[in-house]
Amino acid sequence: MNVAEPITIGLLGAGSVGAQVARTLVEERELISARVGAPVRVAGVAVRDVETPRDWRIPKELLTTDAEALVDEADLVIELIGGFEPAGALVERALRQGTAVVTGNKALLAARGDELHALAAETGALLRYEASVGGAIPILRPIEDSLSGDRITKVMGIVNGTTNYILDQMDTTGAAFDDALAEAQKLGYAEADPSADVDGHDAAAKAAILGTLAFHAPFTLEDVYCQGIREVTQEDIEAAASSGYVIKLLAIVERQNGGAVLRVHPTLLARTHPLATVRGAFNAVFVVAESAGELMFYGQGAGGVPTSSAIMGDVVAVARRIRSAVPETPLLSDAEDLHALTIDAAETQYYIDMQVADQEGVIAEIARVLADHRVSIESMRQPGSVSPEGEVEEAGRGDAGAQVQIVTHQAKEEHLRATVETLESLDVVKSISSVLRVEVEQ
Ligand code: HSE
Repeated sequence: MNVAEPITIGLLGAGSVGAQVARTLVEERELISARVGAPVRVAGVAVRDVETPRDWRIPKELLTTDAEALVDEADLVIELIGGFEPAGALVERALRQGTAVVTGNKALLAARGDELHALAAETGALLRYEASVGGAIPILRPIEDSLSGDRITKVMGIVNGTTNYILDQMDTTGAAFDDALAEAQKLGYAEADPSADVDGHDAAAKAAILGTLAFHAPFTLEDVYCQGIREVTQEDIEAAASSGYVIKLLAIVERQNGGAVLRVHPTLLARTHPLATVRGAFNAVFVVAESAGELMFYGQGAGGVPTSSAIMGDVVAVARRIRSAVPETPLLSDAEDLHALTIDAAETQYYIDMQVADQEGVIAEIARVLADHRVSIESMRQPGSVSPEGEVEEAGRGDAGAQVQIVTHQAKEEHLRATVETLESLDVVKSISSVLRVEVEQ
């Protein structure tokens, strides 16, 4: 491209993020052009209905309902429609023509990232999606760029603000799950369908994206084990608190046994862990790399204005490359050929909270079951007794049963599951109130 020619931008979608991106492109056009080193020009903003009121009043002459024509005209397409269609077809149309795409569409990337990366590699189109994970937090560029000479071993993130808000409210104010969810919805963090947040699907999409970039291999949503927070009770939270833990919904991608484990689930986190301090709807991503060691990235994970910062960062980075005709660099490679392992093969520490008969030999019987399943105990507590009504009393006072909390060493998920099944079948075990995966300090 001739450097004097403007870089033509087509924006698809004008929702809460799109309207803010439109505002920046129009009001800060000179600044953005200066940052790019070439003039940028907004060719149009494609919307479904030009009359819909928006967070920022987009000049009427920019609005169009012909998204395809806009894609065909642009040097750089910003896709902020979200969801699968028409967003997917439009992104594909752009990439097929070799046109650069910036998107925040986590669902699309998690489902079709492998295919879209392959298409971009074929045509040389640039494809960037910083806003898809952690909103405003610069996390993907550090992973794909700054750490590209290192080997990332693990990424753990609080990547869903709604669930972090809910769990934080339950932990700090004793709020009930439904009330905390309603509050998160009122504050505008939640997805249109709250199931995407509370059942972990939003975080799972982000885990697929983090795994893809951290391990340079195309993982999709199907590779991610996903468990949401619906079953986390106030009792779980109180029991965790009494042992020095907090419960967080984590997206974890980790190298293990020659493969990669990608998982999203409620996790017991030591209160001393840096991620445990992440409150409210904030997001944070904790990265462990062989040479760099531990790194943490923290910030606002949702909202139109913060997320527009990540989109604009990608726009400037991509436009600079268009200006200087720098071709796409391979983000993915098969140099290591890491494959996704199933959750059964995953190894982590576990916490088991159970109510048992308070009589001699019980602890020995429980310990025997764990040993038989090759699960080693790291710590065991008997914090209180359980009254006949199920209330936990001070240790040694109750006559009906006792509460026992066990934290295991690293164990295979399938061994742990078999352990829990056997424990449940013991006469001395009255009930198992929670089984949670644990992350302690690295
Ligand atoms: N619903 C998401 C959240 C929005 O709660 O974090 C950002 O993807």
